[in-house]
Amino acid sequence: MAQQVQGVIARAKGAPVEITTITVPDPGPGEAVVEIQACGVCHTDLHYREGGINDEFPFLLGHEAAGVVESVGEGVAEVEPGDFVILNWRAVCGQCRACRRGRPEYCFSTHNAKQKMTLADGTELSPALGIGAFAEKTLVAAGQCTKVDPSASPAAAGLLGCGVMAGIGAAINTGGVGRGDSVAVIGCGGVGNASVVGAALAGAAKIIAVDIDDKKLETARSLGATHTVNSRSTDAVEAVRQLTGGFGADVVIEAVGRPETYQQAFYARDLAGTVVLVGVPTPEMRLELPLLDVFGRGGSLKSSWYGDCLPSRDFPMLIDLYLQGRLDLDAFVTETIALDDVEKAFERMHHGDVLRSVVMF
Ligand code: APR
Ligand code: ZN
Ligand code: ZN
Repeated sequence: MAQQVQGVIARAKGAPVEITTITVPDPGPGEAVVEIQACGVCHTDLHYREGGINDEFPFLLGHEAAGVVESVGEGVAEVEPGDFVILNWRAVCGQCRACRRGRPEYCFSTHNAKQKMTLADGTELSPALGIGAFAEKTLVAAGQCTKVDPSASPAAAGLLGCGVMAGIGAAINTGGVGRGDSVAVIGCGGVGNASVVGAALAGAAKIIAVDIDDKKLETARSLGATHTVNSRSTDAVEAVRQLTGGFGADVVIEAVGRPETYQQAFYARDLAGTVVLVGVPTPEMRLELPLLDVFGRGGSLKSSWYGDCLPSRDFPMLIDLYLQGRLDLDAFVTETIALDDVEKAFERMHHGDVLRSVVMF
């Protein structure tokens, strides 16, 4: 029996989000219905609302979520009812060339539920990132559910589903940060501060946090940054070089998504260093670099998409670290809110005080 639940939708470009009744079908083959316990508010949800992703309105927003599997469809082996899961937007196919070559994090046929959730009048919803978790229940592909230790707090666990994983993964998976490395992180919001945490977990000796907001830098320090630079008043590249004996950092992570900070990241790296771009640019943005500087410095310029994560490998491991007290995910939960407070949380995002607002059910 299909069920009616409350969900937050974006009906039209730029219009405020609204809470409404949605219909969630029973899970079909390979699908699962998950009862959502917590879902973080991410910039991508706002981008959907603003029409910046595509124009397939109405969207069911929300995608950084944890909850309990309520029911599964035919042939589902990954999870069973009662499992505590984190939802992901990288359910890999196992068949494509990337998967067969052992690089499933670059799978090019990741999948979502085949059936559609709908509005009361039957209009089909487009779930954000194939998830749609600002809803009491949602329908996903079973591969989008990763079972983790149920003693983790749902608010903290859900954040691994997107932004925090993107940041930790940018440092560990994409950047390959290792013991003793120097790391600079430019932009210390939810994503950048997660990169600070990732660098600390990987054993970096020096972690330089760069931001234009002192409050973000304070948080970065509490999460493991060894040095902080306010780039409103100080030249970020010069400061990173000075703090690394005149050379630059082994790994520089850009977590803002602007040409100026991409450029700073490029020049703040040591010879043969790695630059990791995790901030998402707009389609109009361009980066101009003298080719000789690219050629002459060696190293690499990489982009990190979802932290190059593999949910089945990374989520349970990070939850274990969290439960052991070695990974402070709670620090990213600035506030918990109700489902009807998403619109206000979008506004607060711009004021800079919030790493993550998390909707609790
Ligand atoms: N230099 C340094 N830091 C900056 C600058 C700048 N010129 N401009 C903004 N910042 C800082 C902000 O002060 C803030 O702390 O960048 C941080 C951005 O953080 P959030 O707005 O919280 O964004 P976050 O969720 O961390 O995402 C950052 O990563 O995944 C992408 O789409 C996401 O592009 C976005 C980026
Ligand atoms: Zn694949
Ligand atoms: Zn997100």
